Amino acid sequence: MEWVAIAERLGAGAQGEVYAGTLEDGRRVAVKRLAREPGREEIQRLHFEAALLARTGHSGILQPVGLAWTEGEVVLLTELAEGADLARLAAALRPPPAVVMALGAAIAEILDEAVRAPGPDGRPLGLVHRDLHAGNVVVGADGRPRVLDLGVGHTSLSRGRRTASGQQLGQLDTLAPEALLDADAAPPRDVFALAAMLLQLLRGTPIYGGRTARQVATLAASEARFDELIGEAMAGVPGAEVLRASLAHDPRARPTAAELAEVLARASLAGGGSAQGWARQALDLLPPLAPGPWSNRRLTLEPAGFDRDTDVVDAGDLGAVGEADPTVRDRRGQDTARIARRLPTRGEQQATLEGGWQTWAMVGAFAVAAVGALGCGVLTGLAMLSAGLG
Ligand SMILES: Nc1ncnc2c1ncn2[C@@H]1O[C@H](COP(=O)(O)OP(=O)(O)O)[C@@H](O)[C@H]1O
Ligand SMILES: [Mg+2]
Repeated sequence: MEWVAIAERLGAGAQGEVYAGTLEDGRRVAVKRLAREPGREEIQRLHFEAALLARTGHSGILQPVGLAWTEGEVVLLTELAEGADLARLAAALRPPPAVVMALGAAIAEILDEAVRAPGPDGRPLGLVHRDLHAGNVVVGADGRPRVLDLGVGHTSLSRGRRTASGQQLGQLDTLAPEALLDADAAPPRDVFALAAMLLQLLRGTPIYGGRTARQVATLAASEARFDELIGEAMAGVPGAEVLRASLAHDPRARPTAAELAEVLARASLAGGGSAQGWARQALDLLPPLAPGPWSNRRLTLEPAGFDRDTDVVDAGDLGAVGEADPTVRDRRGQDTARIARRLPTRGEQQATLEGGWQTWAMVGAFAVAAVGALGCGVLTGLAMLSAGLG
């Protein structure tokens, strides 16, 4: 892979932009370029992503082709998925419910295989994608979904935090409550994300509506209020019991990816669902991709190897052990993880509410006193004035 001819820009995400390219030997690849000038951590993370993709070895997860230096940057090359991402496709043509179920079943199967993929010691890696949303799923003309972007993935081998400070961690629209509250990274988090994504496809709007990250984090602090929020989002969605269960506030109450796959496959069969017809129509409707700053260039590649055994473990040591995931930014750029960390735990909730009541009572009393004092002052002033004038 000595050079790559860069063609159209396939898309952009939180980490960077991705281009379609052709290697010297004719292989078509996707080239991921980081948005920011990479520091040690970013480079290590790309190694981690490449190693993680390789470890899954799954046809539903885009496999790495290599890591390379070019133009002073490190790029990750992966297989190119023909088709388009689900966010673009759904915007072009809303998928009918049976198609949503079929896509969901296939993605749940991919999640299940990923979580069981073996680590270097032969034991399951326990891979959690942590950023599953429609922009990270590519669907081809055959209707088959493929999952990409393990940039903020997490495994049971990851000992420390996995994201650099200030970096976006997951899209708010599919973020599970535990991710907002204590940055938990266990497999049920992906089940929640998948269900939230499917519900968004069915309804056309995200589960959290237009709420800010701060508002969602506040709601997530109370199981009852969160359930109410999800209940509202589910209203009028047909046959969605399994999605409701997958959106449970308590991660332990959710079905596993394997269970979800089974139920969704049955639902899609009952609806005669296959995603192929829809995918073809939607692809035909898409406008052509726009070029990006790197398009129409030939870039020389300097291989920067990665190791699917060591890189998948070493990168887990990024940052301090036991530190919570740092930031989740919503569309307005609010830092929710910090907000979430300030939220009271369930036990503290009552105390805070009482404290809040007392504080407001004090503020109220103070305000009355201040207005009173001001009023007296004004009256005294007026009296003095009139006395003086008189
Ligand atoms: N291998 C690929 N094949 C086709 N499209 C891709 C591929 N990789 C990425 N894309 C497109 O590029 C976008 C951004 O890629 P992604 O890996 O998610 O980057 P980020 O980590 O910045 O979110 C995706 O939403 C998708 O549209
Ligand atoms: Mg992405």
